[in-house]
Amino acid sequence: MARPTRHVFVCSQNRPAGHPRGSCGQKGCAEVVDEFMQQWQRRQCFAQVLVTPSGCIGPCGMGPNILVYPEGVMYSNVTKADVSEIFDAHLLGGVPVERLKTTADIW
Ligand code: FES
Repeated sequence: MARPTRHVFVCSQNRPAGHPRGSCGQKGCAEVVDEFMQQWQRRQCFAQVLVTPSGCIGPCGMGPNILVYPEGVMYSNVTKADVSEIFDAHLLGGVPVERLKTTADIW
């Protein structure tokens, strides 16, 4: 397996309603995960990018959250509509999407 240039972890954690931490699942991460998978497939960029649905990555109340390595850039409040820009600008272009970055006091 070739080592990809970037690896994106897309939080897919769900918790029961009323849980004190909330979850990305309660904030619609399922459609974000699905959009990442569909675009990854459509773009056929498997050598450059690895996409992995993950468990909780931290700031649950700001979800859906994703985390991109090797830069260690986290994005919060990601929507399905943001996924194309994340692929084009960061995952394939190498330029993080500033407007979606998790605030510095959190990450
Ligand atoms: S549930 Fe997604 S960051 Fe915690």
